[in-house]
Amino acid sequence: EKPPYRRVAVFGAGYIGLVTGACLADLGHRVVIRDIDPEKIKLLQAGEVPIYEPGLSDLIGRNKERLSFTLDLAEAVTGAEIAYVCVDTPPSASGDADLSRVWSVVTSLKDAAHLRAVVVKSTVPVGTGSRVRAALDAAGLGHVGYAANPEFTAEGRAVSDFMHPDRIVIGTSDEATARLLTELHESVDGPVVVMSVRSAEMVKLAANALLATKISFINEIATLCEKTGADVEEVAHAVGLDHRLGPHFLRPGIGWGGSCFPKDSEALRQLANNTGYHLQLLSAVIEVNNLQKRRAIQKLKDELGTLAGARVALLGLTFKPGTDDMRESPSTVLASRLLAEGAEVHCWDPMARPAAAEPWTSTTRHTSVEQALEGADAAVIVTEWPQLAQVDWTQAVATMRRPVLFDGRNLLDPVAMRAAGYHYLSVGRP
Ligand code: UGA
Repeated sequence: EKPPYRRVAVFGAGYIGLVTGACLADLGHRVVIRDIDPEKIKLLQAGEVPIYEPGLSDLIGRNKERLSFTLDLAEAVTGAEIAYVCVDTPPSASGDADLSRVWSVVTSLKDAAHLRAVVVKSTVPVGTGSRVRAALDAAGLGHVGYAANPEFTAEGRAVSDFMHPDRIVIGTSDEATARLLTELHESVDGPVVVMSVRSAEMVKLAANALLATKISFINEIATLCEKTGADVEEVAHAVGLDHRLGPHFLRPGIGWGGSCFPKDSEALRQLANNTGYHLQLLSAVIEVNNLQKRRAIQKLKDELGTLAGARVALLGLTFKPGTDDMRESPSTVLASRLLAEGAEVHCWDPMARPAAAEPWTSTTRHTSVEQALEGADAAVIVTEWPQLAQVDWTQAVATMRRPVLFDGRNLLDPVAMRAAGYHYLSVGRP
């Protein structure tokens, strides 16, 4: 017999909140998503999705009867059995995660005695759960369960990651809440792992830090490959065939970005510092990631002599392909440094919506790769959009002022690119 469908209030209509809400609705639950941003709610109520995430728009459209959006707190909370906290936790000036949005949701639940559980999906420092638990107790909600349920979905694959996760982590100290959330995910295709609240909070930070470590590690090996004549692609492939190491997150490039790795690795480092223990490995992982962008600029300088007056094309602006997300994208760092060195920056990206602020207001955006390349002294592939593999590079070479191409994601074939006349550079390949 199937467990009953639940009524769920989701707080936060960002990437995580929308995907969680839409997927829970698709599983049959009744979901109300609440956000405090009137623009966002207006769009969602009109059937539009404010972010790009493959499959999300369809999923929301398909589940209209079970999924609604509101600005109104009471509308979200009334009748809800489970409150999901999916608001963002940006870094604060001190480096600690800013939990003000989490607290504002928790405080707003003080009269919701009918709830069965409050669940935090937002990434929070270890120990946050016990503070939320204490706040619920103080508000007379001692009978309401608490769980940490961290999210492991990656942007661009979030819907399918949610439906087919490697694991569902439920951190809670009470059995009823563990059962409730296990049942909530019953038709999700992945194992449920129940643990303490603190462990669940740590799993999220540790997993992202280890993924970032793999990337920084292979990026360092790539640098060494450049100095020794080895080919990092061959090395990474064979290293990854060891089942203890695995093939994933060994793609070298100009570094990791996005809304999660940079923020979560800083948050973990800060969490450690607060305990008086300094995470040495993680600090090096972060430093290697910064170095990767400095090395990219240095490569261009070595080729061009000076960047002053040079016209440089940045191809791909988002932090990875398949998303419109520019948060902590390497392209922002590269554009700022290039401009500071006196270069002219020309950009192409099929989906990015850069903020109307520096460095982007000082750059020129083109709608085609060919236009961005025209008259350029150098081009950098920053994001491995598949469109870039389709460009007629043999044609494009003649339109550049100097045919310097730095493939920061090892997207193209060095032999073919050199045959086409490029002075072709990539990461860790001869
Ligand atoms: C990441 C994690 O992969 C998710 O498991 C996690 O849930 C999510 O953060 C989060 O904390 O919410 P995401 O930020 O969407 O997901 O992006 P990834 O696909 O992990 O890529 C992160 C960055 O690493 C990108 O800039 C990408 O270009 C880079 N990367 C990734 C590499 O340079 N090499 C690789 O081999 C893999």
